[in-house]
Amino acid sequence: MTAVQGPRVTLRAFRPEEIEDAMRRMGGGIEPSNGGQSMRRRARLQGSGARNDWEVLFAVEAEGRLVGDAQGRCSDHAMPPGVWEIGIELWDPADRGRGLGREAVAHLSTHLFEHEAAIRVQATTDVVNSPMRRVLESLGFGFEGVLRGFMPTGEGTARDYAIYGITIDDWTTRRLERGVWGLKERARTRER
Ligand SMILES: CC(C)(COP(=O)(O)OP(=O)(O)OC[C@H]1O[C@@H](n2cnc3c(N)ncnc32)[C@H](O)[C@@H]1OP(=O)(O)O)[C@@H](O)C(=O)NCCC(=O)NCCS
Repeated sequence: MTAVQGPRVTLRAFRPEEIEDAMRRMGGGIEPSNGGQSMRRRARLQGSGARNDWEVLFAVEAEGRLVGDAQGRCSDHAMPPGVWEIGIELWDPADRGRGLGREAVAHLSTHLFEHEAAIRVQATTDVVNSPMRRVLESLGFGFEGVLRGFMPTGEGTARDYAIYGITIDDWTTRRLERGVWGLKERARTRER
């Protein structure tokens, strides 16, 4: 089990008593009638904090509270070896815009480069998602283009998504020049 502890944000496994809350809040919740999706999400939450064959899922904790989830995905069936895609959500809008997302993405990416043999970390987000785009740009991810018609909306259309990436070489250079993502304090990774 891995936990990454930074100055304000900790990435760790979900605790058993947090799982019902996370079931309701992750990704805007699941339709109660969708039993298959519900079972898969519960299994993901129960296995969080450890890498499985396609992802590592973390609870995002800040100020001693559970505030969201973050994950890295690297499936043998979908990605070249060492290429990880990341995602993050701070569930309560009141927790957004305070630098927590930036710190969480910095710790997650560092963890993937240092402990999961990442050669590249990438992220996609809706072209109009300015906070996520800003987080990625401020951490040195390069804007690599627009994936047209990428994310289905459920209304018969699909949204355009921006794709960003950072390679191990970019990250190493940036780390040497600015410390770890410009954060004052380096995060500590614990294995239990
Ligand atoms: C996206 C998300 C993770 C970012 O985390 P956050 O804690 O809100 O972001 P931060 O406070 O670290 O940084 C936000 C940056 O965006 C900027 N920003 C916020 N709203 C903005 C807007 N409307 N236009 C332009 N920039 C904006 C902020 O000024 C800040 O940049 P700065 O540090 O250079 O000032 C969070 O907002 C979230 O969970 N959103 C909902 C789920 C989501 O969109 N997830 C990503 C899906 S890919």
